[in-house]
Amino acid sequence: MARLVVRDIVITTMLLGLFAAIGTGVVAWVHSGTEARIAENRLAMTRMRVTQVLEGLDYDNDPVTDHHRVGDERLGGHDLPVWLARHEGEVVGVALSAIAPDGYSGDIRLLVGIDATGTLRGVRVTGHRETPGLGDDIEVERSDWIHTFRGRSLVDPPIELWRVRRDGGVFDQFTGATVTPRAVVRAVRNALLYFEEHAEALLALPPPEEDAVLTIEPIMPEIPDHLAPTDPLPEAGGAEESTP
Ligand SMILES: Cc1cc2nc3c(=O)[nH]c(=O)nc-3n(C[C@H](O)[C@H](O)[C@H](O)COP(=O)(O)O)c2cc1C
Repeated sequence: MARLVVRDIVITTMLLGLFAAIGTGVVAWVHSGTEARIAENRLAMTRMRVTQVLEGLDYDNDPVTDHHRVGDERLGGHDLPVWLARHEGEVVGVALSAIAPDGYSGDIRLLVGIDATGTLRGVRVTGHRETPGLGDDIEVERSDWIHTFRGRSLVDPPIELWRVRRDGGVFDQFTGATVTPRAVVRAVRNALLYFEEHAEALLALPPPEEDAVLTIEPIMPEIPDHLAPTDPLPEAGGAEESTP
């Protein structure tokens, strides 16, 4: 009788151990798959957004693997990735990360594409917590508003007009929502000022070493799921010239 009880205990323990091992294995397997998927999405997002904000530039490198880190008050952060577009080795444009700290609900994260002459090639919002239906028209998926920056520079409009219309500037605000566009306009203007002040150094940043392992610098985290790319990815490299 006692032997039977011991045998039952041993079998039960072994079964429990087996189930625990299987459970742990399944969780680890799912986790590693999810991690790989997240990394893939980040890469896809980075490539898509960087390519978008450098639209129309003639470049022959892969900016996604040609990156450095910079920082300044004007960019809203001190360790932010910048991606470089080159033609025959010369930097012809940069995709700067910038943070607008004064959104309605905190930071609004931006990618700002500027060519070597200081003209904006494109701006995209890469993360925010603004109110759906009020402040989220800054997303390219929700409205065309973000395209109003394309072709602009610090002389177009003049610096004093880099404001929303309500504050005497040239950029539209949204109905019942001025705080969000105001923050974005200010951050884009500040990114242009940063570029102007640091153009020489930015345009002289070195390319990755020949034998370096090419790494991908993912776009800033906190990208809401609904901003993840769904369209087929554009090819890396120079995009066709298009009208502003
Ligand atoms: C619940 C709630 C959420 C809001 N969310 C935003 C927002 O995301 N972005 C924004 O600019 N204004 C938002 N507003 C409105 C601002 O409080 C502010 O009134 C507005 O930006 C000023 O714009 P106006 O001068 O055009 O009225 C929100 C207001 C409320 C009550």
